[in-house]
Amino acid sequence: MGATGAVGTEFLRILQQRDFQMDSLKLLASARSKGRTLKFRGEELIVEELCESSFDGIDLVLASAGGKFSKQYAKTIIDAGAVMVDNTSAFRMDPDTPLVIPEINPQEIAIHNGIIANPNCSTIIMNVPVWPLHKANPIKRIVVSTYQAASGAGAAAMAELQAGAQAFLAGEDFTPEVLPHPAAFNVFSHNSSVGDNGYNEEEMKMVLETRKIFAAPQIMVAATCVRVPVMRAHSESINLQFTNPITEDEVREILSDAPGIRIVDDRESSYFPMPIDADSADDILVGRIRGDISQADGCGIEMFVSGDQIRKGAALNAVQIAELL
Ligand SMILES: NC(=O)c1ccc[n+]([C@@H]2O[C@H](COP(=O)([O-])OP(=O)(O)OC[C@H]3O[C@@H](n4cnc5c(N)ncnc54)[C@H](OP(=O)(O)O)[C@@H]3O)[C@@H](O)[C@H]2O)c1
Repeated sequence: MGATGAVGTEFLRILQQRDFQMDSLKLLASARSKGRTLKFRGEELIVEELCESSFDGIDLVLASAGGKFSKQYAKTIIDAGAVMVDNTSAFRMDPDTPLVIPEINPQEIAIHNGIIANPNCSTIIMNVPVWPLHKANPIKRIVVSTYQAASGAGAAAMAELQAGAQAFLAGEDFTPEVLPHPAAFNVFSHNSSVGDNGYNEEEMKMVLETRKIFAAPQIMVAATCVRVPVMRAHSESINLQFTNPITEDEVREILSDAPGIRIVDDRESSYFPMPIDADSADDILVGRIRGDISQADGCGIEMFVSGDQIRKGAALNAVQIAELL
């Protein structure tokens, strides 16, 4: 569901790369895409229009058409006997729906009502490296600032960044239609709506989803989410406050054994995580690991991460869930 989008096309790539076992695959999108073909395992598959009868005979739905459609079709999908792994925010905070990052809480998959939610992309990219540290030394507080790629807003936003950059370089006017502000050569606050407390929706997802995934309602999280003119892969500056003192060497040791992470932390040549290196990679790149000099008790750590949010932040995480199922 959403097969033609930024996440949907990545699903196709990952299902092929990981040789996901299936008898058949159905591609669903809007009426606009009906009849288009997409290549899968050497075959041209025809895209069908999403409708009530789309799920007859289907076991697994990988959903990325937007929250509205996940909500609209959830009952039909469950009644058809299928399980939906949902990339949208529709069911993430529903108490009966597991919210799963396989490196963190795979056990949650065991009990579900037909829907398993994939967390928000910025939340996944932060939490894959933060979780093993939290297990070793409980985290009290996280302060995170994101540097989010245009592709986080979908395939049309990627095209808009490209068109906007071309117009800028040609000295031409450009009016964005997908994102609220020009993305090229600019930085702006995340394009989700701002709530009464001054935080936008993306920021509050990082707060609330982290508590649910870690089963740690006491963790304090303050996030600032920002779009940057990067095509693909989000980066994040993460400041952690632990319960007990911790050194940067201990952090490196813990992370070097943790799944889904690659340490990129070369101070001599100033080589650290960059979205250009995280693009299309499965691992979250982690670097700039250092003790926080503003926390005199030795309980603070700073780090910088980059991760492909279409891949581990969306399609890969969902396929990993499907593999566990
Ligand atoms: N992009 C990311 O990095 C990312 C990360 C995590 C989660 N997500 C979530 O995943 C979902 C999809 O994101 P995306 O970035 O892939 O968006 P996108 O590139 O805009 O793709 C949207 C998909 O939904 C389909 N769709 C739209 N309207 C439809 C309708 N009326 N009926 C059936 N299908 C319809 C589109 O089909 P057409 O091509 O026919 O319009 C397309 O396949 C969103 O909920 C998003 O929040 C995205």
